[in-house]
Amino acid sequence: MITTIPEVKRKFDVEEIRNDFPILKRLVNGKPLVYLDNAATSQKPQAVIDALTQYYTFDNANIHRGLYFLSELATEQYETARLKVKELINAMSVSEIVFVRGATEAINLVASSLCRAKHFKDGDEILISYMEHHSNIVPWQLMCGRKKTNLKVIPINDAGELDMDAFGKMINEKTKLVSVVHISNSLGTVNPVKKIIEIAHSHGVPVLLDGAQAIPHYKIDVQELDADFYVFSGHKVFGPTGIGVLYGKTEFLEMMPPYQGGGDMIRTVTFEETTFDDIPRKFEAGTPNIAGGIGLGAAIDYLNQFDRNELIEHENFLLQYGTEQLSQIPGLRIIGNAKEKASVISFVIEGIHPYDIGTIIDTDGIAIRTGHHCTQPIMKRYNLPATARASFAFYNTREEIDKLVLGIHKVKKMFA
Ligand SMILES: Cc1ncc(COP(=O)(O)O)c(C=O)c1O
Repeated sequence: MITTIPEVKRKFDVEEIRNDFPILKRLVNGKPLVYLDNAATSQKPQAVIDALTQYYTFDNANIHRGLYFLSELATEQYETARLKVKELINAMSVSEIVFVRGATEAINLVASSLCRAKHFKDGDEILISYMEHHSNIVPWQLMCGRKKTNLKVIPINDAGELDMDAFGKMINEKTKLVSVVHISNSLGTVNPVKKIIEIAHSHGVPVLLDGAQAIPHYKIDVQELDADFYVFSGHKVFGPTGIGVLYGKTEFLEMMPPYQGGGDMIRTVTFEETTFDDIPRKFEAGTPNIAGGIGLGAAIDYLNQFDRNELIEHENFLLQYGTEQLSQIPGLRIIGNAKEKASVISFVIEGIHPYDIGTIIDTDGIAIRTGHHCTQPIMKRYNLPATARASFAFYNTREEIDKLVLGIHKVKKMFA
């Protein structure tokens, strides 16, 4: 089955699109939900919910093993979802798409497997950046701890942009991997990943991009970027939780040993020795999240209805409008002012803890995130315990930003 990318794209109309997301019609604390925590997870269109219901209601069977109708149907749907992911990110081959639980598991897989492939030796270095999510720090520490390799951290400036000069100086013959976030979840910074890859490759160093925040906003082309690894989670791109993607170039996936052992990843097993299946199956031990994969495929079909540029344009409008409106609130400071930003506004208000902001505006049905956003080093960099963060998806509206601004004024009055 070939994936469906319609010739004629659906016109972007935010009010009409909101009807596709049933949760956006619900009330919270008696008020219409204003959902501005899309960087944590996105909401699901009815098409994704229907795909999950259809699978569990009519099509449920285990995949790859059965020679009967339902098993073959489920296998075809799951493998079609892999093809949809391949097309979404323009990978060279479906075998470069490994299904995992999410971005976190993808990075753990690469860390564990590269380590066991003896890609790193004592004294080698891995370059990450100051603005990494914990999931692009801790797996390397676990692995580095064992192998005594060193994590080197690319600094950022006060605006929240990577110091590319420092990066150029830090990369050397000891560098064995660069692993950086494409878009920062706590600052919204869009990193110059193509440039990073060019520089790293000129030193013969492979690059992993954490695309968890980029995939819902941008059209990603891993071949154009020349990324060696690209990871993301389904739930941030309007799909289900518990499913995610590791893209890896064939040459790396072929060379890397399996991450976990079990059923479905082997070719032959004896008590003495096991041989493994081809990529990507050798990385997919056990029964996978079949419904999750199918749901992710439905989310990709949903996105494919649109001209992605129209969605980006609307999100850019929300970012610009939100930045303008929030900046006018006395005492409010936006954290992260990179020239290239996407869909995230982190902020603090003089004299008010972010938790208080989040809790008070929740009484008006407004959902934003407060805390360190799993990026404690960046909080330390700005000397903050936490920020409040509003993050947008294409279904958000200007009116919702107005409600956020009103909510913040209400918080300020309470603390005045
Ligand atoms: C930039 C970034 N990387 C990685 C992750 C981890 O994603 P997950 O928890 O879905 O594995 C997140 C989640 O917020 C993120 O924002």
